[in-house]
Amino acid sequence: MIEGAPNHSDSINPMPANRIALTARRNGPLAGAVRVPGDKSISIRAIILGALTVGATAVDGMLEGEDVLNTAKALRQLGARIERTGERKWLIHGVGVGGFAEPANALDFGNSGTGCRLALGAVAGCPITATFDGDASLRSRPMQRVLDPLQRIGARTLACVNGRLPLTLCGARDPVPIVFEPPVPSAQLKSATLLAGLAAPGDTVVIEAEATRDHTEKMLAYFGADVRVEAAGGDGRRITLAGQPELAPRPITVPADPSSAAFPLVAALLVPGSDIILHGVMMNPLRTGLMTTLGEMGARIERVDMRNEGGEDVADLRVRSGSLRGVDVPARRAPSMIDEYPVLAVAAAFAEGTTVMRGLKELRVKESDRLAATAALLRANGVATDIEGDDLIVQGQSRAPGGGTVATHMDHRIAMAAMVLGLASERPVAIDDGTFIATSFPGFVELMRALGADLA
Ligand code: S3P
Repeated sequence: MIEGAPNHSDSINPMPANRIALTARRNGPLAGAVRVPGDKSISIRAIILGALTVGATAVDGMLEGEDVLNTAKALRQLGARIERTGERKWLIHGVGVGGFAEPANALDFGNSGTGCRLALGAVAGCPITATFDGDASLRSRPMQRVLDPLQRIGARTLACVNGRLPLTLCGARDPVPIVFEPPVPSAQLKSATLLAGLAAPGDTVVIEAEATRDHTEKMLAYFGADVRVEAAGGDGRRITLAGQPELAPRPITVPADPSSAAFPLVAALLVPGSDIILHGVMMNPLRTGLMTTLGEMGARIERVDMRNEGGEDVADLRVRSGSLRGVDVPARRAPSMIDEYPVLAVAAAFAEGTTVMRGLKELRVKESDRLAATAALLRANGVATDIEGDDLIVQGQSRAPGGGTVATHMDHRIAMAAMVLGLASERPVAIDDGTFIATSFPGFVELMRALGADLA
């Protein structure tokens, strides 16, 4: 036990208590209009960045999923007052940059890599010590990649085995601004560095070789920080943040999460005769790689009523079933659809011909080894699938036998992708545990049933 570090082993249970088995089976066409929950990335940022403002940030459309609830709990432990004022309406009372209080107990982020990594960044610029922990899935994910820039800024890690949680972070007393080039394309890594840089005097610069989702820099600018974004090389960006701003709260409207919309969307493409509307889905171009890919596959997706809501482009999507063809998905598209590969692989199983998805190394360090879990999902249901290096190759055959039980490995997106497969395959598909769906998509089963899906 490290002196001064809170004892975390008595309070946190990294394994789920009760499993919820689920089965999806073919039924009639999907029909109706629905709105999927708010975007997870924006909801988590609203809490963490809201907590860094001076004043109250009103959030409308908050995702009330487990990842967000765990992040809110942790930010309360750091001194922010966070209130739920109505259905999906929250108020975040911030403590200002550098204003966090030292938490009495370990911060438990559950399954949330985004909540944990962004909070690591926010804490790294404060002179406090905090222990970070999570469930068994989060404990298996790499944290050293985030700790590297934070240590350069001046934070110290007191207890951390193998670059994994649980770990204790001692924030910098005198944070220094850095220039950081992330070794992997990761919005979490970029965001953690920028949030730590808020407390440093001078410019913190992140140069990313491939642009990743830009919600942190957009929200920081919206709250009044001086943030400059410039093109850097082919697909890259150079983000410069002037340190020690006073962040002023402004209201946030959270659009529907495109990564959640992906599940009913692909289901409607695959279940014959389907015709659905998905309301208010965020169309930020750094999040729409799946739309581009499905378009190339021949999917019928119409963007109706494109508009701007709360600083983000959104659209209602009309999705109709139809035949798909296999495509080659280039590696450079991965950052704009990094969470969508499991459900794209399911779509690929029903396409005519082979789909090759390239450059998926980062999928190995998601909530599960998602590359292996996606291949296993398809193989368990009779779809020929290979992994070659970092590429995933699916042999489409316009039909999928189904009949398998999928191991979800505490991964919400594997669980939902398997359910989508079961709605269109010849035999039902079961999952061992649907508990983790609630991390990002509370109400998934009910929403799919409202469209006519048979999920039980
Ligand atoms: C996220 C970034 C992505 C993504 C995750 C959410 C974010 O992770 O997979 O679900 O909100 O910044 P990486 O930054 O590790 O690619």
